Amino acid sequence: MKPTNSPKTYRVKSFGCQMNVYDGERMAEMLGERGIVPAPEGEDADLVVLNTCHIREKAAEKVYSDIGRLTKGKTQDKAPMIAVAGCVAQAEGEEIMARAPAVSMVVGPQAYHRLPEMLDRAVQGERATDTDMPAIAKFAALPERKRTNPASFLTVQEGCDKFCTYCVVPYTRGAEISRPYGDLVTEARKLVDAGAKEITLLGQNVSAWSGEDDKGHTVGLAGLIRDLAKVDGLARIRYTTSHPADMDDDLIAAHGEIDKLMPFLHLPVQAGSDRVLKAMNRSHTAESYLRLLERFRAARPDLALSGDFIVGFPGETDAEFEETLMLVDAVGYAQAFSFKYSPRPGTPAASMEGQVAKEVMDDRLQRLQAALNRDQWAFNRATEGRTCEVLVERKGKHPGQWLGKTPWLQSAWFEGDVGIGDLVQVELVEAGPNSLAGRLRERVAA
Ligand code: 5AD
Ligand code: SF4
Repeated sequence: MKPTNSPKTYRVKSFGCQMNVYDGERMAEMLGERGIVPAPEGEDADLVVLNTCHIREKAAEKVYSDIGRLTKGKTQDKAPMIAVAGCVAQAEGEEIMARAPAVSMVVGPQAYHRLPEMLDRAVQGERATDTDMPAIAKFAALPERKRTNPASFLTVQEGCDKFCTYCVVPYTRGAEISRPYGDLVTEARKLVDAGAKEITLLGQNVSAWSGEDDKGHTVGLAGLIRDLAKVDGLARIRYTTSHPADMDDDLIAAHGEIDKLMPFLHLPVQAGSDRVLKAMNRSHTAESYLRLLERFRAARPDLALSGDFIVGFPGETDAEFEETLMLVDAVGYAQAFSFKYSPRPGTPAASMEGQVAKEVMDDRLQRLQAALNRDQWAFNRATEGRTCEVLVERKGKHPGQWLGKTPWLQSAWFEGDVGIGDLVQVELVEAGPNSLAGRLRERVAA
């Protein structure tokens, strides 16, 4: 590639999970430190970072079509500089370099702190790939948090050792690592100074976080949450995503004891059939999952539940799928995510017998989503008439309208004299399937 001008504007496009959103923000901060500014809405950027997700279908194809769209009809000096980041970069970096000459940088999720150096090389016309996994080194090398949203993310744990047989994460994000306690408390304080009122602690298997607190005691996620709850100005704490096998008594108790810990739990179950769960290597049964939820609900009776589901795992029969629907009925989720099984290259399930036909998966997904949507709406209706705290996150579609989140992570919109980042009391007046209309009652001091 020819040497080129240093980019002046950037755009980061993040796909997939919340951790990618976090990573995207951190990459943007690094580019900001270099004096590169976000490209104005509607204008082309000089540098585009495609922060990709590999968890489900067509991830790589999406990347190639995005690259095609960015470079179509443009000579090299008119086309943007392109960096591919995220889990597709980790899994298919070399192929991307070989197949897409327009890409200057390929950087994996554990190596993006090196983006500025790679950028220097790219400006000299050199293409660079970095898919090392130095994990902790990345966080130490990132700039301080200076700007943020009222509802912010904080990665506390990365990687996964669970090896569910369908999942690519243990290969793309690597082994489980926990960021050190002190770094997390510091970053949380910085986020609050920058305007965060709510922090969601992120990890692929967040409940496996462990560390040593400032007194030298080994603590788990519950201990970390307890200490973060002491940060002045921080009003709300959430965490995601958990595995049923790593939920300990302390975390369950924390839901009953810590006011700042929001009454919401995202706990993926994936399927309702024990045979399928075993083939998925999930290490829990439908029954043990339900019992676990009972304990959480005993600690926090108004807990809203969320989950992830996969339909059409290899070998799943109609009767086994019915067990998923029964589990859904038994739980009554406030919201949930559901997906058709997608074979991921290199995972054990991809080569299992009994791959399920697309039409069968389509039909199961439709039925599952109908049940989940029904329950979500029912949950929303059950909160009608309550007055609760809402964190204002953005303006609504209409002038004077605001959108925020209830403690149960529902979207609520209302009118009134408020601003982004305010915590206000809102009466939930009318429930829709995906959000609630509210009436402003009063502001709450942060
Ligand atoms: N196919 C379909 N869904 C998947 N997930 C993970 N891997 C796959 C796959 N191969 C879903 C799981 C997980 C969520 C993040 O994505 O439900 O909890
Ligand atoms: Fe993937 Fe979650 Fe299973 Fe880990 S626990 S392998 S991230 S589905």
